[in-house]
Amino acid sequence: MEIFIHDTPQAATRAAARTIAGLLGRKPEAVLGLATGDTMLALYDELVGLHRDEGLDFSRVTTFNLDEYVGLPPEHPDSYHSFMRERLFDRVNIRPQAVHIPDGQAADLSQVCVDYEEAIQEAGGIDLQLLGIGRNGHIGFNEPSSSLASRTRVTPLARQTLKDNRCHFHEEPMPSSAITMGIGTILQARQCLLLAFGSAKAKAVARAAEGPVTTMVPASALQFHPDCRFLLDPAAASKLKNQAYYASQQSDS
Ligand code: F6R
Repeated sequence: MEIFIHDTPQAATRAAARTIAGLLGRKPEAVLGLATGDTMLALYDELVGLHRDEGLDFSRVTTFNLDEYVGLPPEHPDSYHSFMRERLFDRVNIRPQAVHIPDGQAADLSQVCVDYEEAIQEAGGIDLQLLGIGRNGHIGFNEPSSSLASRTRVTPLARQTLKDNRCHFHEEPMPSSAITMGIGTILQARQCLLLAFGSAKAKAVARAAEGPVTTMVPASALQFHPDCRFLLDPAAASKLKNQAYYASQQSDS
């Protein structure tokens, strides 16, 4: 795991965008694993800017989103389908058929999960997986106690997640479960980039990066990933014990 502490969220976001642009330069048909949430907003704006100003090409890219709420139709304004359309897909030249987000409204949700795993395999696996982190250490919607080998499945949302995400919902009640890629699914991506900003994430980041690997901190499973970077701002990094070492790694690179 490599920890990069940037001066600002903007600098960390630009570094993430450059990493994605570099991948698409080397491999225009790359498979991207995408996340939603507030942390990703500026990153998607940055990618849209690179598309508009520098011709960053998404025409051969395939994407798989981490998760979707159960019960929301794709056109629902609070669905992750809508989030992705508004924030990225409608603003770049990606092919609609290359976009994959779990269907949270399907009659047979177990089949959706099996099909999702198969589609990832058929696409050749995920080259780069973007991740945020919940205050409870979740990645995707793998809440504390999720198996570190879990695959795409339906899962209830933790109380902390319901509390944190309620503000994004225009209608009550918000869904109480979601389809999420599993931790095992995420660990199979060739590269993982986790972004976290602000002091509210500091404890989860420290537990994920420096604590023991445990199901109670799902992001700690990333310690097993051979190519995982955490891109942080100083506030999100503030509870890390090893900050001086991470800074020396950065000056060497
Ligand atoms: C969203 C997702 C979640 C978020 C996490 C952080 O697709 O998988 O794990 O990345 O909840 O959310 P924000 O960025 O809103 O703090």
